[in-house]
Amino acid sequence: MSITAVIGGQWGDEGKGKIVDLLSKDSKIVARYQGGANAGHTVYHGDIKVVLHQIPSGILRKGCHCILGNGMVVDPIGLMEEIEMVQSHGFDTLGQIHIAMNAHIVTPIHKAIDVATEAANNNRIGTTGRGIGPTYVDKYDRVGIRGVDLLDMNCLREKLNAKLDSAIQAGHLPESAKDQLQDQFHQFMDCAEKVASLVSDTFTLIHEFAERGENILIEGAQGTLLDVDHGTYPFVTSSSATSAGISTGLGLPTNKVETIIGILKAYITRVGTGPAPTELFDEDGQKLRDLGQEYGATTGRPRRCGWFDGVAAHYSARVNGLTEVALTKLDILDHFKEIKVCVAYKMDGKEIKNMSEVLHRLEDVQPIYRSFEGWQETTTGIESYSDLPEKTQEYIQFISDFIGVPVKIISTGPGRDEIIHN
Ligand code: IMP
Repeated sequence: MSITAVIGGQWGDEGKGKIVDLLSKDSKIVARYQGGANAGHTVYHGDIKVVLHQIPSGILRKGCHCILGNGMVVDPIGLMEEIEMVQSHGFDTLGQIHIAMNAHIVTPIHKAIDVATEAANNNRIGTTGRGIGPTYVDKYDRVGIRGVDLLDMNCLREKLNAKLDSAIQAGHLPESAKDQLQDQFHQFMDCAEKVASLVSDTFTLIHEFAERGENILIEGAQGTLLDVDHGTYPFVTSSSATSAGISTGLGLPTNKVETIIGILKAYITRVGTGPAPTELFDEDGQKLRDLGQEYGATTGRPRRCGWFDGVAAHYSARVNGLTEVALTKLDILDHFKEIKVCVAYKMDGKEIKNMSEVLHRLEDVQPIYRSFEGWQETTTGIESYSDLPEKTQEYIQFISDFIGVPVKIISTGPGRDEIIHN
């Protein structure tokens, strides 16, 4: 039996979709445990590019069960669009998608509150506007709408109307929202009725598969530094994106997970606001963005880019208990004469090696870099470690030694085969 988790080791967008898709080949279940339609996982199937937001990346594998766990916030409208998109590419999803009964449901009200709150606060967090934060607020306020509520349409309609009244009463939405949201309410009820048939006891499903010794893959969304507890708070998402979220978000105890793979991009990116110590504002930053096509899969926003942050990666290894690393987008660095890795921060004249010490003041730190000579030859599509240029191997080995976790997978291009197993 093998239960494996794939976790974003930075600020999200590390290329998890491809690695999950690859590992899902031998998995009977792929399960997500947190987040919602804020995530955007890009998977290539031959020449077809599929961007998934809520459905776990295993959906492209015939017969693979995809669980949307209780720790997720599920948007029925987005989910139906996604199911139709996947089906339009010729994939049959029937019987493959399962929504936890106690997963929370994102409604048009939550999306409207998310957008209105950000607008009122001058886009303070730079959220994706998908209603993620407000839905988690309702969950912890114990007034949320859950998967089980989709099973009774009359009751769901009442809850939706009550939620709208309370949002207006609390001043989160204007009175005019009643008219403005009507169309979206119809669409929501329509989609809710359709996805209701996917709601089931996912807890028993995952445990029974685990007890039978089947391979299970757990797919994290966003990244470690966007985790609500361990990330760069308040510039974070509203869920537990680290491996700790698995036990609450699926009801699967962490001691059942044998392998925890951290996905680290060979450089860093961040969307939204909040500090990123190695962010580049120069030509190199633009070059990373252009070559890496660093534009959001969910919102299309340009991502902020910078050199690999070793201090952050080391923190990520610790907080997630990473057993191995998958290094992605290595080939993007082919085009640089000099490549840098941040090995410490400097703040108030002091050298800092532990990110946790300065998470609350990350905007005040200066990166201290170690410089590497670029290999300046193509690594795109290389499938064997020994075929990599010596300088590339040195870069990978340095990262592995620095964070104390072996780099076992290296992605050298977007295609399924552009991968090295080390
Ligand atoms: P929210 O999750 O939409 O509330 O956004 C909170 C913060 O997390 C913002 O900075 C977003 O840009 C960021 N964020 C949310 N989802 C993702 C993702 O999938 N990749 C990268 N950043 C994300």
